[in-house]
Amino acid sequence: MKLERLPSIKSSLKPSNHPYLNGAWTPLMEEVNASDLDVIEGTIPKDLDGIYLRNTENQVHQPLGRFHPFDGDGMIHQIDFRGGHASYRNRFVRTRGFEAEQEAGASLWGGLADPVQLAKRPGWGAHGFLKDSSSTDVVVHAGKALSTFYQCGEGYRLDPQTLEQLGLESWVPIDGISAHARVDERTGELMFFNYSKHAPYLHFGVVDRNNKLATYIPVSLSGPRLPHDMAFTENYAILNDLPAFWDADLLKRNIHAVRLHEGLPSRFALVPRRGDGEIRWFEAAPTYVLHWVNAYEDGNEVVLDGYFQEEPMPKPRQDAPPGYEHMMAYLDEFSFKSKLHRWRFNLADGATREERLDDRIMEFGMINRRYAGRKYRYVYSTIAEPGWFLFKSFVKKDVQTGESWSYELDSGRYASEAPFAPRMDSRSEDDGYLVSFVTDENSRTSECIVLDAQHIPDGPICRVALPHKICSGTHSFWASRDQLTA
Ligand SMILES: [Fe+2]
Repeated sequence: MKLERLPSIKSSLKPSNHPYLNGAWTPLMEEVNASDLDVIEGTIPKDLDGIYLRNTENQVHQPLGRFHPFDGDGMIHQIDFRGGHASYRNRFVRTRGFEAEQEAGASLWGGLADPVQLAKRPGWGAHGFLKDSSSTDVVVHAGKALSTFYQCGEGYRLDPQTLEQLGLESWVPIDGISAHARVDERTGELMFFNYSKHAPYLHFGVVDRNNKLATYIPVSLSGPRLPHDMAFTENYAILNDLPAFWDADLLKRNIHAVRLHEGLPSRFALVPRRGDGEIRWFEAAPTYVLHWVNAYEDGNEVVLDGYFQEEPMPKPRQDAPPGYEHMMAYLDEFSFKSKLHRWRFNLADGATREERLDDRIMEFGMINRRYAGRKYRYVYSTIAEPGWFLFKSFVKKDVQTGESWSYELDSGRYASEAPFAPRMDSRSEDDGYLVSFVTDENSRTSECIVLDAQHIPDGPICRVALPHKICSGTHSFWASRDQLTA
């Protein structure tokens, strides 16, 4: 392995006993370029050709108040596979907030769990008092990486191969762009949404394959909501109005407290992708959903798959370290109980039909994105370590037959979301690999693992050493070689 370390950044973070600033969530302050990575086990497949990008909430400065892991600064990790070899690099996203705090040498904004009065400067996005950390999600669109923030941030572009910072994306509207913009590989379009505290509260937009804003329309709601993700089919974008959102009375006093609004249904908007037709609304059982898997049209129906939370407002975890009982519950799949679920919206009679696809608790579903928006068979989910926002198993589910396959990592090893990477000359939906970063708390090292998507229970077919131990992170993206240029 050849390693180049970049000049160090300023950090004021002190040791603490915070559960999400230690162990697999220990922030990393180092930025490197590494080539010819060492293979620990197995062989890198020669027909794996492209890059795996992962965003990470990686805190740099001593928090002003009660740190929440979603407050961390965005760090993009990238591994590039080509011809049976791998290289790696990582960079902080140079957001305006990151740069301001580098200049100050300290935190300037409080976090999600803090009162708004902690912010020393105006913030960004729907919340309005948080730093736009650009630390939630990353996609590749029009040949460039785009990193985004769940509270609606500005949208930062990076070169997906060099991780050179390309700055703010110019088409992002005044209300920002939420995490989980979706790329349709077949059309090259990027679909996005944003949400805010002012009417119409929700917007939908489309950016074409040449990175030009083609559509931006309001999707009117009755008040502020907190959607986290969206889905699409060939003709529709699917946005949501779910009954877990900020308490309106407390919000008037600038207190951002989420509660489940009893008596309200889940609502889904089918928005014509060109923005030129009627928006159809459907109602369903109340829940909250963090992530959708996929959606498609099936005759008169629009089918949507995602993870239904049986307890969107979970009880505090009594086994959490004192003071962290609420936060630990909201970060724990086994507390909010997310299960693979299907909604069918009937365009003829306006009814919604629902069914559970799997009774196990799981989340963070990845698919072969060539099938995004179209009828598909396979979803690759992760199962968490109970009590923790850490992933320990991968589950492949055939949503047509109900069959499933899984692989669990050894104790003390934690994975990221594992996107599907089609093999070069891939011949079928599951003809490819799953790629994930793993942090090993036993050896205090990190690696990248590759699984054969047709043989999940066999475990990794190769393990590649990373040059440093990386902080646990979540959302990721696989881009094939041909998607890395505009
Ligand atoms: Fe997310």
